[in-house]
Amino acid sequence: MWGGRFSARPADIMQAINVSIGVDRRLWAQDLAGSRAHCRMLAAQKIITGADAEAILGGLDAVEAEIRDGTFPFRDQFEDIHMNVEARLAELIGEPSGRLHTARSRNDQVATDFRLWVRAACDAAVEQLKGLQSALLVRAEQHAGDLMPGFTHLQPAQPVTFGHHLMAYVEMFGRDAGRFADARARMNENPLGAAALAGSPFPIDRHMTAAELGFDRPMGNSLDAVSDRDFALESLAAASICAGHLSRLAEEIVIWMTPQFGFVTLPDDLTTGSSIMPQKRNPDAAELVRAKTGRIMGSLVALSTVMKGLPLAYSKDMQEDKPPVFEAFDALTLALGAMTAMVAALQPNTERMREAAGSGFSTATDLADWLVRELNLPFRKAHHVTGAAVKRAEALNVDLSQLPLAELQSLEAGVTEAVYKVLTPEASCASRQSFGGTAPEQVRARIAEWKTRL
Ligand code: ARG
Repeated sequence: MWGGRFSARPADIMQAINVSIGVDRRLWAQDLAGSRAHCRMLAAQKIITGADAEAILGGLDAVEAEIRDGTFPFRDQFEDIHMNVEARLAELIGEPSGRLHTARSRNDQVATDFRLWVRAACDAAVEQLKGLQSALLVRAEQHAGDLMPGFTHLQPAQPVTFGHHLMAYVEMFGRDAGRFADARARMNENPLGAAALAGSPFPIDRHMTAAELGFDRPMGNSLDAVSDRDFALESLAAASICAGHLSRLAEEIVIWMTPQFGFVTLPDDLTTGSSIMPQKRNPDAAELVRAKTGRIMGSLVALSTVMKGLPLAYSKDMQEDKPPVFEAFDALTLALGAMTAMVAALQPNTERMREAAGSGFSTATDLADWLVRELNLPFRKAHHVTGAAVKRAEALNVDLSQLPLAELQSLEAGVTEAVYKVLTPEASCASRQSFGGTAPEQVRARIAEWKTRL
């Protein structure tokens, strides 16, 4: 298709390093959409005749039918999806096919196709995130009042509710969906019509192709239009942050599923066994969600590195944009799907969690707060007194709530019986009524808000 000035065929190694059809065949639907829009615009602008446009559109339909029924010949000799489609079109309809590439280059063609693909991938990620958030909301509502230990440094800190913990992820995944939506809004401009790099001398209508392809407007600079891959980078950044969130939740599931924690189990169909150790139930899906983060974040680094330092406008380096993006979104799709399934099927052991919520002197802060509120101690003093109480309880091998009143009074004379009311994990959670706090009413209020938002 570009052989006019050549007298030798590409060497095998030239073809081997150049060919991209194995990867970019995934863009076939976007390539056909772009070609149809371009063809209609060429006819509307009288750059090609109506008869040629009809022949081309008919031929593109035939190409689509072949691709859909698996008979389309994807051929390495035609390098990429764009030239494979055009070569087949020529075989199917002959001469008019040669007019489709008027006022177009593979540079604006691939930029358009890829933008359309990434835009759809971002939309799909938002939908999957909403599904995951909905699954989390259901579970959070079921467990809005069930206690578990809240951790800092993975050490017992203060009791929280399991619903509160799950809702933390609803917030994270909500921001992730927002990042994909932001990226989509910024990427939604049409590169088509930039042609090779400088625009076109034909009277093309870039607004028309923009509208047909669902873009908000044409891109404002033809050099930028063919050489920008920010949209892919931004989407990979959104995917990387999202993957980071998924991997944190995956890690928690792995920890919670250890017999040592025993907070949750996953059903048979979402776990695997060991071929040697008959007792094993392994959280492979959670581990793999955690691991997919490597691919996804790696893809962001890979494409950033490809793009760094490229002079304007198009360079063939940019053909290497697609593998990382496809790989990242494939991994993200799997990870979001697996996580949604795990969240829906988690079987929490609420008794075990409740028991753990009260251990580790998790209500020590409540004792300190009580000393501040009721005895008007400065917080630092109250903190010190409570530390001494924890030390005493540890020595006596009891919980704070079991520490005799005389012991507490020996540390701070004014302490009364009333203090015990704040030393249970239930009271601790119930008291945290600040907006966004772990009190079940607060958790339920946030759940109600998210239900409306979703
Ligand atoms: N396969 C190429 C890519 O993905 C299409 C654009 C090629 N353009 C060119 N001038 N060789 O980037």
